[in-house]
Amino acid sequence: MSRRTLFVTTALPYANGPFHIGHIMEYIQADIWVRFQRMQGHTVHFVCADDTHGAAIMLRAESEGVTPHELVARVAATRPKHLSGFRISYDHWGSTDSPANTALSQDIYLKLKKAGFIYAKPVEQFFDPVKAMFLPDRYLKGECPKCGTKDQYGDACENCSSVYSPTDLKNPYSTLSGATPVLKTSEHFFFRLSDPQCVAFLQEWTRTDARGNARLQPEVFNKAQEWLGKDGKGLADWDISRDAPYFGIPIPDAPGKYFYVWLDAPVGYLASLKEYIASGAALLAGETRSFEQILADKETQQIHFIGKDIIYHHTLFWPAMLKFAGAPYKVPDNIYVHGFITFSGEKMSKSRGTGISPDLYLDLGLDSEWFRYYVAAKLNDKVEDLDFNPDDFVARVNSDLIGKYVNIASRAAGFLVKHFDGEVHPGATDFIRIFDAEKVGAEVRAAWGDREYGKAIRAAMAFADRVNEYFDAEQPWAKAKQVENEQVREQLHQACSICIAAFKALTIWLSPVLPETARKAAKFLRTSEVSSWNDWWTPPHRIEVYTHLMHRIDAQQIDALLEGPKAAVPPPPRPPSASPTIGTPGTSPPDSAQITIDDFSRIELRIAKIVNAEHVDGADKLLRLTLDVGDGRHRTVFAGIKSAYRPEDLIGRLTPMVANLAPRKMKFGLSEGMVLAASGDGPGIFLLAPDSGALPGMRVK
Ligand code: 2FM
Ligand code: ZN
Repeated sequence: MSRRTLFVTTALPYANGPFHIGHIMEYIQADIWVRFQRMQGHTVHFVCADDTHGAAIMLRAESEGVTPHELVARVAATRPKHLSGFRISYDHWGSTDSPANTALSQDIYLKLKKAGFIYAKPVEQFFDPVKAMFLPDRYLKGECPKCGTKDQYGDACENCSSVYSPTDLKNPYSTLSGATPVLKTSEHFFFRLSDPQCVAFLQEWTRTDARGNARLQPEVFNKAQEWLGKDGKGLADWDISRDAPYFGIPIPDAPGKYFYVWLDAPVGYLASLKEYIASGAALLAGETRSFEQILADKETQQIHFIGKDIIYHHTLFWPAMLKFAGAPYKVPDNIYVHGFITFSGEKMSKSRGTGISPDLYLDLGLDSEWFRYYVAAKLNDKVEDLDFNPDDFVARVNSDLIGKYVNIASRAAGFLVKHFDGEVHPGATDFIRIFDAEKVGAEVRAAWGDREYGKAIRAAMAFADRVNEYFDAEQPWAKAKQVENEQVREQLHQACSICIAAFKALTIWLSPVLPETARKAAKFLRTSEVSSWNDWWTPPHRIEVYTHLMHRIDAQQIDALLEGPKAAVPPPPRPPSASPTIGTPGTSPPDSAQITIDDFSRIELRIAKIVNAEHVDGADKLLRLTLDVGDGRHRTVFAGIKSAYRPEDLIGRLTPMVANLAPRKMKFGLSEGMVLAASGDGPGIFLLAPDSGALPGMRVK
């Protein structure tokens, strides 16, 4: 088998927030494949990066009163916990806001321009005169031109479902400032996606890869064909520029123009690889070639794992950009697309409180290999959604991992250690014949390579079932009572050794999914041979005393995960009551720690704009804020946030406030409300901020 070089990426997450569970699922899918390929002896460069540019991040930073760089840095700092927590083995994590990405994006653009694939043309678009910026469609609302429903987005009406263009909206307004937008023309740059050369290339590229295999999954291929159109006339040229103000990469020789975020985002794949190679870290993995040499090598495969929502960008724009930019770039070899993760059949949604938080998962101390295993057991090579069902999760992990896999080691080890000093019988190799291990090993191997993870796991678990049945049939506990009989002793030794050898094989087969368990098992098996695929058929020589490799899931931990962050904190002790509470039959007594929705709705939370902020003479904790909640008057609020904010950084920010708090007379004046900030045991106070789009006066509920 030839050694391949695999350049593997996952989609770059937007740098405006922490990972959600969908990101983690994709990373696990790719990581399993990468770990498997490394075990096959291939050279793998596995990279990702933060996707930092675009209007959304720029506006979000502005509303939080920080620079985009600060926002991006803050989010980047949250990455390592999740990546190491879920054991994702990236070689490098970069950022699209890097010198390498700027240089590569500009280089690709200039090469495309030289090849005649870029042109400029005027575009008329809505412009917010207050914010002095062109408005991306999602920041534009108005009345539906058909049915007149208010507050509809610029592309379609949620009420009557009619589809229209932003210029058709009646009484349009900017959701950023509330101002009426005006139409304004500016020059944009376009990539000639509709060029016949481009279309011909894509028609070819979407079909077969360099090895003559289907390049795309059938459903992805069909989508791409639909977009290309039967006559190849389905594609429009692609608008790749945005006007200042924009957080992005400047377009060479075009002052005030930036690359649209989707141009430089996939270039981030290459920039991350380039940084990794330049760092010298790849030398440790035996990679001595330069970035350009790796891309030029015919044996290098460039593979992108992505979700189904970004197929268009990865099967049309991206390969066409790379193709017509030419050397040193190469077109992607394969795009592996997965579906979304759903929660008990529903879309995961933070606002509805459905779904699971990767952060909480780790904070609760849940074993990340449980989640890796569950995801793997449900994944295949299709673009299907994967459902996370909590009961199924608990049942599957406990029955498969604990009840089948780990069980083999924990049952057999005791006899080997007690009666044979941990030594494994030379006849242990017989496990290959008894359990048909050659065949199973080949099946598991093929399934990992084909991304048919569910299949790999089913084959491994059927094997584990057979090993457990064999153990039961051999009745080692009965044999152990007759160890003075040499023949029985020999049988006991051999049967337990066979089970341990089978356990080692299973450990290797499952190690792409369970790397940490494999590491612990290697210690137990007193071997270093679990990192190469071919190690599976050699039984260990001697084992250690068995110690827990993995615990069962306690259903209560999952309850805590589903209830959200509060559940992780024990409720405060109830005050002792003088007389026992007698509940109405059929209802439970009210819990003093809980409030009803009616209680909550009495608090009037509204978005306020901080129109002024200043120090208060003689107060060392307070700032005086002047707030506008859109009701035509200003309110003064004293907030204890001086230690965390400079007044000038707060002016212009939006923040939620309690608008119906009774005014309070304080030493320094009357306080007419309260702003909300987060703080913990450690230092730091963090003022809350709404997502971009919120306006002063909006109710928070
Ligand atoms: O959809 C997204 O989350 C994008 N940030 C994905 C970018 S993938 C690549 F092209 F960078
Ligand atoms: Zn309508």
